[in-house]
Amino acid sequence: MPRIAFLGPPGAGKGTQASTLAAELGIPHLSTGDLLRAAVAARTPLGTEAGGYMSAGRLVPDDLVIRVLEERFGLPDARPGFLLDGFPRTLAQAERLETVAPLERVVFFDVPESALVDRLSSRRVCPACQTVYNLASRPPRAPGRCDRDGTELVQRPDDRPEAVATRLAVYAETTAPLVEFYRARGILRTVDASGSLDEVRRRVRHAIDDRAGGSC
Ligand code: AP5
Repeated sequence: MPRIAFLGPPGAGKGTQASTLAAELGIPHLSTGDLLRAAVAARTPLGTEAGGYMSAGRLVPDDLVIRVLEERFGLPDARPGFLLDGFPRTLAQAERLETVAPLERVVFFDVPESALVDRLSSRRVCPACQTVYNLASRPPRAPGRCDRDGTELVQRPDDRPEAVATRLAVYAETTAPLVEFYRARGILRTVDASGSLDEVRRRVRHAIDDRAGGSC
């Protein structure tokens, strides 16, 4: 069973592709963003601490995120393999992961910054079932309502323009260096993630299936 991570800037499409590909591969989709948002919604002490960083577009401190992920790793479904989305995001997180569950493949989602801003500003989510929509590329059937449960869709607080600018800057400074970290380990695959959902899905699937191949 594979141990895979999706790496890339905010809005690159990691979560969208991870939710379908993890189901196809029969492994859990572990999103630290989703785990943290659940803690915020449940108003746990950790969620209260993390929420302020998240709505401002800043990273949650390493020790908190690592704790959240290691708890999730403790559940039996994650033992054989997993698809990580949004982790690691710092060198400290990557080094910690090497000691707990070393990755076999890292897929880097490459998208021009202008497309990221467009995607994030038009993203809407269902607060009940967490389904992700996009006003341009993946609109709901009834305007403003979730296809699954009819709940009114909302914009994530960190998709507002001020927070998006902070997230892109934090990504460039802190997370982008991980591309070289994984390239040096020979497990990185770069995917052009600027096409349609289906085109990107095919490219990502190819990058995952090519686990035995070299890095590029
Ligand atoms: P997280 O939820 O991980 O946010 P992110 O990495 O910024 O990623 P996004 O969810 O914004 O984007 P995505 O790449 O998943 O894109 P999506 O598929 O939704 O983290 C949120 C916060 O939590 C962080 O800022 C931080 O505070 C904290 N956090 C989380 N992990 C952490 C960690 N490890 N360390 C510290 N802090 C952490 O797609 C975006 C939109 O585009 C959608 O509307 C979608 O429908 C659309 N779309 C997708 N693909 C396409 C396509 N091919 N064409 C057109 N539209 C598309």
